[in-house]
Amino acid sequence: MQTILVTGGAGYIGSHACVELLQAGFKVVVVDNFSNSKPESLVRVQKITGLSPTLYQADIRDKQALSDIFAKENIDAVIHFAGLKSVGESCSDPLNYYNNNVYGTLVLLEAMNEANVKNLIFSSSATVYKESTINQYAEDFPLGSINPYGRSKLMIEEILRDVSTADKINQSATPWKIVLLRYFNPIGAHESGMIGEDPNGIPNNLLPYVSQVAIGKLAQLSVWGDDYPTRDGTGVRDYIHVVDLVKGHIKAIDALDAEQFKNGACKAYNLGTGTGYSVLEIINTFEKVTARPVNYKIAPRRAGDLAECFANPALALAELHWQTEKNLDDMLADAWRWQSNNPNGYE
Ligand code: NAD
Ligand code: UFG
Repeated sequence: MQTILVTGGAGYIGSHACVELLQAGFKVVVVDNFSNSKPESLVRVQKITGLSPTLYQADIRDKQALSDIFAKENIDAVIHFAGLKSVGESCSDPLNYYNNNVYGTLVLLEAMNEANVKNLIFSSSATVYKESTINQYAEDFPLGSINPYGRSKLMIEEILRDVSTADKINQSATPWKIVLLRYFNPIGAHESGMIGEDPNGIPNNLLPYVSQVAIGKLAQLSVWGDDYPTRDGTGVRDYIHVVDLVKGHIKAIDALDAEQFKNGACKAYNLGTGTGYSVLEIINTFEKVTARPVNYKIAPRRAGDLAECFANPALALAELHWQTEKNLDDMLADAWRWQSNNPNGYE
């Protein structure tokens, strides 16, 4: 049985990863400082699976804490979700973002190196791509980001590529095997409705906002712009069911044994469906699937938003043998089940 260390395992994506990993027969060790999550999410993971991850409440910047975990647990690979993820907050508090995301990853890499654990799956983002006139992004597109959050992800990607390159110079006996997973827009929740996204305060992202309007916690959704060069003028994104997304991580772990990683490598893969939906399409489909009205108004564009962005997921299919299974109706029905069963999240 393989043991996976999941950093940030109590968070939105991390908790869904714990469920899929436990159900696939992995032993799961979680490290989380609960800066953006609650221990209750892991209680729910246990209720869904009948299995418990081993929990360490610690900060990934605490080197001693990480070394102790590697000494105690027989870790085979790390899935690294821990980090801060709000674009707006990263603009007002960049040092905190670089400290948590970049420095935190450096500490994790040092601890992994010392423990000779060199299998890593990293949570990157589509935000590392430079804006392109081609809306369907492939892994070889130019990189570049326009905010500190995105730059923190890009810096980590660069660090990981350097670490992998150094193996060739050092002729390492155990080379690093690193998978960079560039997520498009994860939404939805586990079909049980027991775990889901539980944002602090007023959500920034579309789906939690829509759900909170539908349940009456928020009065009205602002649609940020209807004058984009898209089919209905509103922004188009590649929404991906969080369960499909985390299954991509298990495929990535499997791929570490495949030919392309045999002698060590650092490779990026898009995790998206390959299809974009507009904000109005999301609202209309949400209303259809949940039979709930979503009160909205058209508002000016939000600074920094792209018109249209969706994935070319062909490489993940070819090399990770992964593709999405759930459609937009599933994503929105599952998001609503989580929201309506847990109007105040995990509280
Ligand atoms: P989340 O905030 O729900 O989960 C992150 C978890 O990491 C939380 O439980 C938090 O408490 C923990 N954490 C943060 N800093 C830590 C630290 N220094 N030490 C220990 N634990 C720490 O976020 P999420 O949506 O689950 O995202 C997971 C990862 O995926 C993040 O790295 C994020 O940047 C990336 N990502 C998310 C999205 C998205 O839309 N949700 C898109 C692209 C990439
Ligand atoms: N939107 C609204 N109203 C809202 C919220 C969002 O109209 O209240 C629109 C946005 O303008 C955009 C779409 O809904 O067209 C999706 O917006 P999100 O904020 O949900 O997602 P983004 O694509 O803007 O951002 C996501 C992640 C970021 C990441 C970025 C690029 O949240 O962390 O993808 O990968 F940087």
